[in-house]
Amino acid sequence: MKMNNFQAPIGVFDSGYGGLTILQKIKERLPQYDYLYLGDNARAPYGTRSFDVIYRFTLEAVKYLFARGCPLIIIACNTASAKALRSIQQNDLPDIAPDRRVLGIIRPTAEAVTQLSKSLHIGVLGTPGTIQSGSYDIEISKQNPQCVTVGHGCPMWVPLIENGEGLRPGADYFIKQEIDALTEADSAIDTVILACTHYPLLLPKIRQYLPYGKQIICQGDIVADSLADYLRRHQEIDCRLSRGAETQYCTTENAGKFAAMASMFLNRPITATTVTL
Ligand code: DGL
Repeated sequence: MKMNNFQAPIGVFDSGYGGLTILQKIKERLPQYDYLYLGDNARAPYGTRSFDVIYRFTLEAVKYLFARGCPLIIIACNTASAKALRSIQQNDLPDIAPDRRVLGIIRPTAEAVTQLSKSLHIGVLGTPGTIQSGSYDIEISKQNPQCVTVGHGCPMWVPLIENGEGLRPGADYFIKQEIDALTEADSAIDTVILACTHYPLLLPKIRQYLPYGKQIICQGDIVADSLADYLRRHQEIDCRLSRGAETQYCTTENAGKFAAMASMFLNRPITATTVTL
C-alpha cells in the first residue's frame, strides 16, 4: 500500500463479514484506491445490541481507522449506520477529525430504491436494531412521502451467516419464516431491500422463498455508485486517498478464522491481521 503523509486508504467498517459484500462492489467500481477493511467480529453481531453499545463500538472503530490515517470511512453496516452514524457525524467528528468524513449506507439505498419501486410499497429486511430504529422509513419518506415502508427484523440471519450455516439446510426454516411475515404484512410490496450487509450471502435462499415478481435490492452496487459520485464531487477528500489497488483486512477476532471465512465469501484467499480497538 503506497501510503504517504498525504494519502491513505478508504476505511470500510462492519460488525463482521457482511461489509465484505459492500467492499467487493466498491472495489469493482473503484479498483484504483487502497482499502482498509475492519470487521469487529469479536463483538458481532451488533443487530440485537442497544443504541448506546452500538454507538460506542462504532466510535471505537472509527477512531481506529482514523488513527490508521483513513481520510474517509464507509460504515458498511446498516445497524451501525442506523444507530451511530448521525451522532458520530454531528457530535464527534467536529472534535476528533473535522477534515475527515464518515459516510453510511442507508441514505444512498433509500435514494435508489424509491426510483425502482412501481407500487411504492417497499419491504425492508434487516437486523432488529435497524428495523426498530425506523431509519429506512425516515429516509425513504424523505425521498418520496407517498412510499409505504414495511420493515421486518430477522434476528437469526446474521448468526446463521457468521457461523457458516447460512446456506445449509437448517437455515431454510428461518429464512422462509421471515420472508412470509414480510409479504403477509403487505402483499403490495414489489421491492425488498436486503438492509443488512450480511444478507446477500443468503441470496439463493431468499430468491427461493420470495414470491415471484418482487425485486430484491442488494446494497453493494448502490453504495459503490454513490461513493464514486461523492468522490467526483469532493476533490478535497479524493486527493487524499492513496491509489495502489491494495486491500488490508483487519479483524478484532482471530486473524486465521477471519481469513478463512472471508476467503469463502470473496471466493479467493486473503490474509488478515488481528487488531485491538
Ligand atoms: N451487517 C450488519 C448490517 O448491515 C450488521 C450485522 C450484525 O452485526 O448484526 O446491519
